[in-house]
Amino acid sequence: PVELTDLVKTHIREVADFPEPGVLFRDITPLLADGPAFRELIKGLAEHYRGRIDSVAGLESRGFILAAPLAVELGIGMITIRKAGKLPGAVFGVDYALEYGTARMEVHPEIVKDGDRVLIIDDVLATGGTARAAIDLVEHSGGSVEALCMLLELAGLSGRSKLEGYQVDSVVTYE
Ligand code: PRP
Ligand code: HPA
Repeated sequence: PVELTDLVKTHIREVADFPEPGVLFRDITPLLADGPAFRELIKGLAEHYRGRIDSVAGLESRGFILAAPLAVELGIGMITIRKAGKLPGAVFGVDYALEYGTARMEVHPEIVKDGDRVLIIDDVLATGGTARAAIDLVEHSGGSVEALCMLLELAGLSGRSKLEGYQVDSVVTYE
């Protein structure tokens, strides 16, 4: 969605030394706080994916902020991919590596319909571990990953290399 690049870029705040010294954090909260900009983003994403997907999978927690309005705008369902221990009942989970340590994401596999074309959406692609886990969760549940949409891609962390063979649409890419 290259037509949305300037819109997003102009609403991102850069915060030095967060969450730790040496990290330049890209903060999406100004974009979310600007009603017309947030709306234009969601409408633009909806036009980009309309007719190509059957459901939207959001990654907790900032991915939820994008997935929910997009699903509503398209009139399709949202799948919540959550951090471990949050979903009730039977879940399928995938462990993945973080910069330091590991994490786990989970899904209710039965809410993904067999053969559904799923769009995975999140705010940031960093090392790619989270997005890779999301692919595995969707596919294990019988879905087909149509594309991954990342608002911001931090290309220096090479997350894209973990997603080879998949369409990764980044709205803004930082080198
Ligand atoms: C951030 C971001 C992505 C993930 C990207 O989430 O929102 O989901 O990290 O990192 P990766 O590409 O290295 O896996 P975070 O864990 O900070 O959770 P939050 O959305 O709850 O703030
Ligand atoms: N911004 C937001 N989320 C992030 C970042 C960032 O720069 N790096 C890893 N997750």
